[in-house]
Amino acid sequence: MQRTNMKRAAMLAVTLFAVGLPAGAALAAPAADHAAMLELADQSRCLTCHDVDETVRGPAWRDVAKRYRGQDVEEQLVKKVYEGGGGVWGNDSMSSNKRAGMDNIRILVRWILALP
Ligand code: HEC
Repeated sequence: MQRTNMKRAAMLAVTLFAVGLPAGAALAAPAADHAAMLELADQSRCLTCHDVDETVRGPAWRDVAKRYRGQDVEEQLVKKVYEGGGGVWGNDSMSSNKRAGMDNIRILVRWILALP
């Protein structure tokens, strides 16, 4: 158990290092550094369709946080962002984001869901 967590933490650190972010930022989530998360979102091409506060093509991420507050939806949303999909916020669909990678998507979804 401990070893698995260590391994995951190490993998996260490597992932973040690869995109030039301080590893501590995501590991300390939800107190994660907002700017670092925006940078990761930018590198992951999320910001072409999303903004934290404004609805763009996709819903404002604060609205996403509000909608799912108190619900255990992290896995479901990670999968949806990875594979793409629609039917929740309107008529538009999100294309798949496989290039961003599962680990980065998980970090981003965790941060999005914790937005105040
Ligand atoms: C091509 C445009 C586009 C890109 C790129 C995109 N999204 Fe989306 N996203 C959307 C749309 C459109 C929806 C609404 C889908 C729906 O109604 O089910 C959405 C919905 C979401 C949701 C809520 C899903 C739900 O079922 O409530 C999350 C979380 C999300 N996006 C995160 C991300 C993250 C993180 C990235 C980057 C890795 C990303 N999106 C990239 C267009 C995009």
